[in-house]
Amino acid sequence: MLDASKMKLVQELVAGSQTEELIWLNGYIAGLLDGKRGQQPQELAPVKPSVNKITIAFGTETGNSKKLASSFAAKAKKVGINAKIVDLNQYRLNDLQKEEYFISIVSTHGDGEPPAAAKKFFDHIHANGLKLEKMNYGVLALGDTSYPLFCKAGEQVDLQLNKMGAQRLVPLQKCDTDFEADAEAWFDQVLKQLTTSSAPAAPAALPAVKKSTGKKIYTGTVLASVNLNDQGSNKETYHIEIEADGVDYLPGDALGIIPENPARKVESIISVLDVDADKKYRFRNEDYTAFDLLKKKLEIVYLPERVVKAYALLVNQDIPATRISLLDLLKIYPLKSSDDFQQLVDILEPIAPRLYSISSSPEAHTGEVHITVARDKFSVNDELKFGLCSNYLSQFEVGQEVQFYIHKNNQFRLPEDDKDVIMIGPGTGIAPFRSFIAHRDATGAAGKNWLFFGDQQFVTDFLYQTEIQNWVETGSLSKIDLAFSRDQEEKVYVQHKLKKNGREVYDWLKDGASVYVCGTREPMSVDVENTLAEIIQTHGNKKQEEAIDFINQLKNEGRYLKDVY
Ligand SMILES: Cc1cc2nc3c(=O)[nH]c(=O)nc-3n(C[C@H](O)[C@H](O)[C@H](O)COP(=O)(O)OP(=O)(O)OC[C@H]3O[C@@H](n4cnc5c(N)ncnc54)[C@H](O)[C@@H]3O)c2cc1C
Ligand SMILES: Cc1cc2nc3c(=O)[nH]c(=O)nc-3n(C[C@H](O)[C@H](O)[C@H](O)COP(=O)(O)O)c2cc1C
Repeated sequence: MLDASKMKLVQELVAGSQTEELIWLNGYIAGLLDGKRGQQPQELAPVKPSVNKITIAFGTETGNSKKLASSFAAKAKKVGINAKIVDLNQYRLNDLQKEEYFISIVSTHGDGEPPAAAKKFFDHIHANGLKLEKMNYGVLALGDTSYPLFCKAGEQVDLQLNKMGAQRLVPLQKCDTDFEADAEAWFDQVLKQLTTSSAPAAPAALPAVKKSTGKKIYTGTVLASVNLNDQGSNKETYHIEIEADGVDYLPGDALGIIPENPARKVESIISVLDVDADKKYRFRNEDYTAFDLLKKKLEIVYLPERVVKAYALLVNQDIPATRISLLDLLKIYPLKSSDDFQQLVDILEPIAPRLYSISSSPEAHTGEVHITVARDKFSVNDELKFGLCSNYLSQFEVGQEVQFYIHKNNQFRLPEDDKDVIMIGPGTGIAPFRSFIAHRDATGAAGKNWLFFGDQQFVTDFLYQTEIQNWVETGSLSKIDLAFSRDQEEKVYVQHKLKKNGREVYDWLKDGASVYVCGTREPMSVDVENTLAEIIQTHGNKKQEEAIDFINQLKNEGRYLKDVY
């Protein structure tokens, strides 16, 4: 039909085109042919898709799934499919049974859990009795292979929708932190299914995708580590400065770190197991010495129940499914022989990364990244214990090298320079706000800044006191309200200070201010939200439902943002 040179051109064009470009091209050629048959083509319309309407529902914590949902919707619209984007947080659960084409983009958080915003949807699909026979669906799961339960939430959504009778349009796609290319290929696959003229066929195998490059790991040097709490405090909060040139981050991002296990614990395990510390074993397709595995790779401090269950099978013993350290487990239920060490490694999980909100600004602290770390202390049977990573970080010494990555949080960004912000961040919740204020100070942003900070005692726990007071003096901080809970008989928290300033808080909100909350998810961020609702009711003269609508409106406009943990 075509000579070799034309054929080559066509093949190159097809190979370099995305699905929707090919569909457009198809329409274009059809139009040209019509024109050649005597009619002039009116418009270069794309081929009519076989599906007109889809829902793209995303569940996100840090904005990646939302970003992908928008990009997919834009692609779908280009080929004539009307794509409705919805946050799973606001999804009307009763609509689920009516859905015919349902695309879900969902990340995994916590220890294999769905994002908080997708929790209600998750519970709903796991409730009994739901039938989704009309539904054709696809699930794009975002995750991070450094975590033990990679893309678990997405896997569960995929399985559950299928169990309820829905038909897969395409197989589940799991994506690592460099998700863009995999997501694009998957979108193309979904569009292909939606634009075929017949009813969606059984899912074809996904095209092979490139091997994940993982996230960019930086190596930095510790410049400073200072305990911000004074003597007499119940707390230890470390301000850690890391020198790292060319680190690409923005205020609102977090620093991710994989802690190492305490050397003493590692040595005890090696001794109990009687393994050669230098002998190599395989873990996740790489070889490490037994020592390095136990020190840097494997979770050994507080095993999840699922690992204890797997160990019970390995040693063929009846072991209660509970959390325990590897050392205690090995002492109570010994491994039969050190030759079984590889089998033990196979059931152990990687140390999960921990995140710390960045407390510096690239504009104010060039070439550095700072974090604010509370050393986690708790007791078990009257024995004082420390959290693995915060304890590891608290031991940092000036000059030591540290590896980390940047966890982007596109859901927690400053507004335009001239917009006002209200920041509520007790305890380590201050971290991103130190970054925000330093950034606005360094860039001369015109918007007003109001900080609510709190902790236990003014004298010992006013984190970054000198800097904050300077910002108040120079006007970089327009307003500050402090809540030190233990300085008086009755407990005073940030939400009490918010309420006291209710009139002004409401006026700021009405005038377009954004509200940011950082720190503990519960109870702090819940109490703050309830107080905001009360303020809106009282000072906005609204009913309870109207106040909730007002808050939802703030969320939709990206003016009520949380970074809570
Ligand atoms: C987005 C985000 C931002 C964050 N920002 C900050 C920040 O700016 N500053 C900050 O300090 N933290 C921050 N965190 C929290 C931080 O990531 C860690 O969760 C925190 O430091 C605790 O980690 P850890 O490794 O020290 O404790 P872990 O070892 O993970 O222990 C956590 C808890 O598990 C239980 N536990 C652990 N071991 C045992 C055991 N052997 N026996 C019984 N119970 C046990 C205890 O209840 C303990 O408190 C943030 C978290 C997120 C998700
Ligand atoms: C606190 C925290 C816990 C996480 N836990 C997991 C996990 O258990 N499994 C996983 O695959 N990914 C985990 N991730 C990685 C996220 O799923 C990944 O960063 C994803 O791109 C986030 O998408 P989102 O911005 O749409 O929420 C975790 C991330 C964070 C911040």
